Formats: sequence, C-alpha cells, structure tokens
Amino acid sequence: MSDGREGAVTAAPLFAGGNEGSEPRWWQRGVIYQVYPRSFQDSNGDGVGDLPGILRRLEYLKWLGADAVWISPFYPSPMRDFGYDVTDHEAVDKAFGSIVDFDAVVREAHARGIRVILDFIPNHTSNRHPWFLESRLSREAPRRDWYIWRDAAPGGGPPNNWRSAFGGSAWEWDSHTRQYYLHTFLREQPDLNWRNPAVERAMHHVVRFWLDRGADGLRVDAVQKVIKDHLFRDDPPNPAYVEGSDDPYDALLHEHSSDQPEIHDVIERMRAVVDGYGGDRVMIGEIYNEVERIVAYYGRDGRGVHFPYNFQLIKLPWDARVIDAAIRRYESLLPPGAWPNWVLGNHDRARVASRVGPAQARVAAMLLLTLRGTPTLYYGDELGMRNVDIPPERVQDPWEKNLPGRGLGRDPVRTPMQWDGSRNAGFSDVEPWLPLSRDCSRVNVRAQERDPTSMLTLHRALLALRRREPALSMGDWAPVQAEESVLAFTRSHGGTRFLVALNMGPEPASLRVGGPGTVELGTLPGSEGQPVDRTLRLRGDEGVIVRLA
Ligand code: NOJ
Repeated sequence: MSDGREGAVTAAPLFAGGNEGSEPRWWQRGVIYQVYPRSFQDSNGDGVGDLPGILRRLEYLKWLGADAVWISPFYPSPMRDFGYDVTDHEAVDKAFGSIVDFDAVVREAHARGIRVILDFIPNHTSNRHPWFLESRLSREAPRRDWYIWRDAAPGGGPPNNWRSAFGGSAWEWDSHTRQYYLHTFLREQPDLNWRNPAVERAMHHVVRFWLDRGADGLRVDAVQKVIKDHLFRDDPPNPAYVEGSDDPYDALLHEHSSDQPEIHDVIERMRAVVDGYGGDRVMIGEIYNEVERIVAYYGRDGRGVHFPYNFQLIKLPWDARVIDAAIRRYESLLPPGAWPNWVLGNHDRARVASRVGPAQARVAAMLLLTLRGTPTLYYGDELGMRNVDIPPERVQDPWEKNLPGRGLGRDPVRTPMQWDGSRNAGFSDVEPWLPLSRDCSRVNVRAQERDPTSMLTLHRALLALRRREPALSMGDWAPVQAEESVLAFTRSHGGTRFLVALNMGPEPASLRVGGPGTVELGTLPGSEGQPVDRTLRLRGDEGVIVRLA
C-alpha cells in the first residue's frame, strides 16, 4: 500500500492494541470525562456546583458519549484547597449534597452505562481532620504518629529544606508541642504518615467505603508524594531552575521528598484492595514526573496502578515533531501489557484552547481521541472553553494567593460550565463562586449542540467514531513518517485501518499516504467523504481521520 517513503504507513514499529486474547476492560475502551463539582451545575442556588447538579447533567454526558465520569473531591472540607483538604473521607460536604445524592449519582450513572471514578487523597488530610486534631494534642497522643512530626534542626528552623508545592517551606512549626509537621501542599494539609500501618489500614477502609457504594474506580491524588525518605535528607538543588520565572517549588529536585522506592509497596497493597472487588474497578495514579519515572508506576508485574496519568500533551510545546517523538518514546517505554493514557487538560493546568489556540484545540481533540490509550477529557474543553481572567478580588485558589501574579493560579481553568445563553450560563441562579467567561453567551452547550461546525459537534463525532470503531480504541498504533507541521499515525484492528493526520501548524501541508482511502472525519468542514490517494493535502490547522482501503 505504501511506496516505503515518507508516508510509509506499514513500515514503522507497531504497538499492540490491548489485552491479547481477552476482552478489553471498560476503562481501556472508554473515555473519561472529568467533572470539577464546584463548577459543573449548581442545583440549590448557592453559586457552587453539587452532586444533584451532576445528576441532572448525566443525560448530557450520555449524549456526549462519555463512558466514565471522574468527579473531583466532594468530601467534607474547609475548602482551603477546594476539597483536596479533607476532614472526613467517608462523607459528602454539605455544599455538594449528601451521601444519598452520591448514591443517586452512582445509580443513575450506571443506569446510563456511565462509570463513576472518585478522587482518593491519600497523602494528606485537612488540618481540621479529627485525626490531626488528636495528633497535635501532645507528643504522646495516640495518633501522634499518624502525621509526620520532627524536631527543629539542631540550630533551629525546619528539619530540612523540603518545599511546599504551594510555596515556602514544607514544614510548619507547632508551638503547642514544639515540633514541626510536614505538609507537601498547604500548611492546612498535613501529610499522613504512611509508614504507620494504622494509617494505611484507615485509608484502605476509605477505599472500601466508596467501592462498596458502587464507585468504579479511584484517581489517586499526588500518589508519588505518599512516602518520603526515612532519613529526611535535604533535596538537592535543581541546576536547571531559573530564579524569578520558574515555580519556586522547582528550585529543588524532589529526590527525597517524592517518588521513593517504597511507594510501590504501598500502591501494590492499595491495588490489592481494589482488585478485591473483582477486577473491574480501576485505579489511576496522578503523577507529575519524567516519563521514565511515570511508567514505573505500572508496578512490578503490573501490580501498580492500572495507569499513571500521562500529562505530556499538557506539558510539551505544541509542535508536531516534539509530540511525535514523545508519543513514540512513551509507547516504547511502556512495560509489556501496560495500558497507555492521554490527558489534554485538568483542574490544575491551563485550558487546552488557551494553550494552543482555538484552531489547534480542534486538532488536539482529534489527537486525544485517536491515540492509543484511555483519553481523559476535562469538562468544558469539549466547548473550547478558555482560561478566564479572574479579577484580583475574586481570586480563590490558595496557590495564587501564596504566589500572586506568576500565572500559577488555577481559578482560570475552574470557572463554571457554560450550558446555555441564560443568566450565569445556566450554571446557577445566583452569582457563581468564580466568574463566568465573558464569551459564555456564545460558547455554550445550547449554542453548539446543533451547529455542525462546533467544537461540541466535533467532540461528539470523535467520541461516536471511537466507540464504533475498535481500531480507534483498542487497535494497534503505528507512527507514520511525516514532516514539519504534520503528525501522523495509523490505528488498526482486524481488517480496518485508519490513518490519522494532523496539521499542527497554520500553513497548508501534505503527507504521502501511498494508497487509497476516504476521509472519515475532519476538524474542518468539507473534507468528509473525500477520497485520498497517494498525497493527502491538509489545510492549515486541519486534522483528518482517513479510512484506508
Ligand atoms: C493534586 C490535585 O490535582 C490538586 O488540585 C491539589 O491541589 C493537590 N493534588 C493537593 O491535593
């Protein structure tokens, strides 16, 4: 089919689709949709989204074509880190509803064939969690060792140089018991001591609590941070750090405060709890690290997480050659049997439409939904929602408050979902907790749902095609040699083969394909159904999926 030159769609190395010989799991075939619950749908007029709001919008998720919804934390919390500071891991915060609402979400999601994935936050609790209140009572308190307490350094000051991810030292002085406690994130988020088996038992109880209630999986927050160096050695300086422009957390390499070998034992035991539910529940790890380190989290003989989140599409420059090399490298580093995954956006990072611009955001959607591995789609990205400027008086994110003006704040990517052109975009009857985007009267579900050229229609078409065609979900992947701004690969399964060709630049480009095919779906109008033979011509910012003959 190919003449063996640039467009050699058959010559490249090939990465096998899925579980050879066994049925794929739902989380391999499916697409995950992330909901940030404060911002999805308010049902009780307090300006904050909630579980009944999610319930109301399940029909939308089904219509869109999502297979699973990952709901960011809704547990009782003082909301210093908007739910990632938990005071009770086995309950629902009043702002989000009740456990009855949670049960209804699970029941109704399942009735629509949608799985429910929860956030599990093992590394830390809120400083108002009863465990921490007990721990800080005295040095002899029964729960003292549930958190990480250390004496001051010999000359005074924090025990070592570890930094908090949200700015400043990772140690906070407790004047009552005259020791420091460790907090990888906010001082209101003390780190649990996972070297204490009682902590592990209590946290396994949490996992069982939610899986017993029907949760289909867990996204495990900051999992590489859970175990720290037992000698508490200083982290070394990062030679690549640029003072003033880089995030101060990156001034050190987190050699001793993160990603310790013992973490894999902790994960294996957590995974065993999850596997105790029959092997159909999924455990996903949140790990920001180099790809070589990330793939280690599949664990020994696959006993780690089912997949560690792969954030390369968020972090890398939007350049066809860079992304092409990264995909090839990732595929080649995956251990045997490991299942890949891809993410374009989440509640911590800039929106894809702001990072790459609206034209390329369409190409990015096609990339996310045609790569091999589970895609995770962040709410609102299917509309092309962009980062929203937050006036200083409305800033909520503690990261922005601690380190203002550096662009670290996450409020811009957490603004309310844009449902329709009504007041507050159909999100709430009252002023939402974060401002709405100024373009919400134009960029919303209602305006886009029937527009054949909209971002939402493109997402629905991509999701439907992926669901229809096993080649796009479970099929083999092979890179295709392309030049300059074009990124290309094939996906194949049985006798079906697709070529995905993405022009990641604004100028027209072409790709030799060496054989006949038909455009199945394009990011720009007018390409569908067009025959392709030998040379595929792409307009600027155009992506196409070609069904090869
Ligand atoms: C990662 C979460 O995604 C982020 O939102 C949170 O602030 C930190 N972990 C701390 O839990």
